[in-house]
Amino acid sequence: MFSRYNKAKGAQSPNKPRQHTPAAQPPVATTPQNSATPKAALPQKRSMTPATPKPVDKDKKRKERLGDIKLELHRVLLDNLNLAALDQVSETELRDEIQAVSSEHLSERGIILNRDERKLMYTELYDEVKGLGPLEPLLQDDNVSDILVNGPQQIFIEKNGKLQLSDITFKDERHLMRIIDKIVSAVGRRVDESNPYVDARLADGSRFNAMVPPIAIDGSLVSIRKFKKDKLAIDDLVNFGAFTEEMAIYLQAAVATRLNIIVSGGTGSGKTTTLNALSSFIDNSERILTIEDTAELQLQQTHVGRMESRPPNVEGKGAVTPRDCLKNALRMRPDRIIVGETRGEEVIDMLQAMNTGHDGSMTTIHANSARDGVARLENMIAMSGVDMPLKAMRSQISSAVNIIVQAARLQDGSRRMISITEITGMEGDVISMQEIFRFQRVGLTPDNKIIGHFTATGVRSSFSERFRLWGFDVPTAIYEPFRGD
Ligand SMILES: Nc1ncnc2c1ncn2[C@@H]1O[C@H](COP(=O)(O)OP(=O)(O)OP(=O)(O)O)[C@@H](O)[C@H]1O
Ligand SMILES: [Mg+2]
Repeated sequence: MFSRYNKAKGAQSPNKPRQHTPAAQPPVATTPQNSATPKAALPQKRSMTPATPKPVDKDKKRKERLGDIKLELHRVLLDNLNLAALDQVSETELRDEIQAVSSEHLSERGIILNRDERKLMYTELYDEVKGLGPLEPLLQDDNVSDILVNGPQQIFIEKNGKLQLSDITFKDERHLMRIIDKIVSAVGRRVDESNPYVDARLADGSRFNAMVPPIAIDGSLVSIRKFKKDKLAIDDLVNFGAFTEEMAIYLQAAVATRLNIIVSGGTGSGKTTTLNALSSFIDNSERILTIEDTAELQLQQTHVGRMESRPPNVEGKGAVTPRDCLKNALRMRPDRIIVGETRGEEVIDMLQAMNTGHDGSMTTIHANSARDGVARLENMIAMSGVDMPLKAMRSQISSAVNIIVQAARLQDGSRRMISITEITGMEGDVISMQEIFRFQRVGLTPDNKIIGHFTATGVRSSFSERFRLWGFDVPTAIYEPFRGD
């Protein structure tokens, strides 16, 4: 049998439940059934609350009581289950085992729970033992796209584009730390006081970042960007109103005719999603190499080589930077290179790649407008230690980058492509640009939804001739401004 009592029964476990301090020990059994609690029942604490507590208090007390019972059961399970064999048992077997061990312990201790409480308790215990505890239901809910933990008592989630406080909490900082440890040790990393932050990828592909005390002052900070199995495709984005069909026609021509494109935007504005959707316009015969810090892109083409950069290990060794990957990628005969995000010294190699035969390459940057994006590229070049006059920098950028697509997360939570701008060259010392499409805001509904429309600016693409020569018949009508019908 897989689990039960494989460890010497009665042996004291190093995890022996620590004595609860009276303050942390709310009454465990306050239900009337419990008045006949046998000898081993948890110590009852005299309630100091008024006779008719407010519903909120009652709810909080109930939650605390269940939390304490769960903690106790979890320790019992850790003592009694053969953890080494966990991977070999089926889900049903493990659930049955958890139920058996727990209900035996509950009855030994005279703790009575109603059916719903038991059901919830067994599910949560399963999540604790096998999964990531309170995070597990959030990870499994496909409607949740981001999970942001600010210490044990506060978990924000993003659902349908809206950030909201969830009612899920951790028992305490130790509980939260245990889950963080579980995540990072599974990927061979460590996080503690001397190494207080970590970036990792969960088994399901989700992006994970944690920072623990003392750097995180009020308890560990965790952010998880859930991996979406079905990435949003161009059609989905058009249907969601992220951009229009006309913009999609233009972008298709731009990608297929191998223009170099940068997707710019703020945090969580939809840059990676846009990059991924744009990649669907690449011909299946091309060899594409992708470089990311955390692999998120899901390209549909057959000939794709994926690379993931690596931070240094605990001894500070073994780092493989995005720049290392990029340099290597250039020796691997790619038709196109896609860099998930350009944020440092790799910018030099990226621009050079774009300038020298790997046209059609794409990347994303953190910036709030096309102009800002260019300034950011200049900054990155300057920071990388390359000694280049500003004008030379700009001319390098202007000949490497053809289009900047600006993504934004607007105040109502909607994500839109708010501008598509072409870089047309240099005028004196300044990079010249022309905007082709933009999102025009006109107002706000009473429930704070943004009212607006996409419009062409009326300027024809400077690549129109290129599109025609490459066989892309882009109708001139797409460049006509919105007329309000
Ligand atoms: N147009 C859209 N409509 C609805 N949801 C979207 C849209 N674009 C992106 N999303 C969702 O928003 C979340 C963030 O998107 P994404 O990862 O592409 O952002 P990002 O700008 O790359 O973020 P980061 O700066 O953290 O890398 C994802 O869950 C994604 O599925
Ligand atoms: Mg991203």
